[in-house]
Amino acid sequence: MKVTSEELKAQAGEAAAARVADGQVLGLGTGSTVRHFLRSLGQRIRDGGLQNVSGVPTSEWTRDVAAGEGIPLVDLREGTRLDLAVDGADEVCPRLNLVKGLGGALLREKIVAQAARRFLVIVDEGKVVPSLGVSKPVPVELIPFAWSSHFPFFRRLGAAPHLRTREDGQPYVTDNGNYVADLTFPDGLTDPTEVEDALRARAGVVTSGLFLEMATEVLIGGAGGVRSVVRGEAGAWS
Ligand code: 5RP
Repeated sequence: MKVTSEELKAQAGEAAAARVADGQVLGLGTGSTVRHFLRSLGQRIRDGGLQNVSGVPTSEWTRDVAAGEGIPLVDLREGTRLDLAVDGADEVCPRLNLVKGLGGALLREKIVAQAARRFLVIVDEGKVVPSLGVSKPVPVELIPFAWSSHFPFFRRLGAAPHLRTREDGQPYVTDNGNYVADLTFPDGLTDPTEVEDALRARAGVVTSGLFLEMATEVLIGGAGGVRSVVRGEAGAWS
């Protein structure tokens, strides 16, 4: 019987929730895989199996879902000890570099992941790619001012840019009041670091969905169960 990608996401999310220990402060990612993590984490808390756990949400969506699951929420500020961030991804390559942000929460997700001691990524096996940018566009969060003026710059990077829009055709607006351009690289990214450095240097670009050298471990839900790949052991997918 074929296992659905939703079931694989659930496996990865539940495996991540099982890793959480008493007293931890967590980064709570965004997306359908994280939804499973939050459900399972909330269940552990409500059952009394976890004490003194709290989380920093990476989106308003996550804030609502986590609150509904009874997960205590805290703000990320100076002095906050963030033990573990858990989040999904749109692509994961063998070096454990990621494309994230198709859900639009890339900026807060990156802030939280950078602040965490460990960054655990949860995906179904359909997210595993040989190199970044082959199956998904790379999202870029932009301030709305002069947004289209960046498009020639994105094209010079080798990308076809599209402003993300809502169903009514209006620009999609992030939780931070910004726009998102999705950059499609027809042949994938040959040098993600070069692209990330160029994007970072561009005034008006707030951040990109390239999460490079950040994940410490990836849990991959697959037909044979959940597989863990730890940074440093990456490169062996099979
Ligand atoms: C949101 C994200 C998500 O983690 C990513 O899009 C994966 O989502 P899903 O688990 O729904 O496939 O980066 O900004």
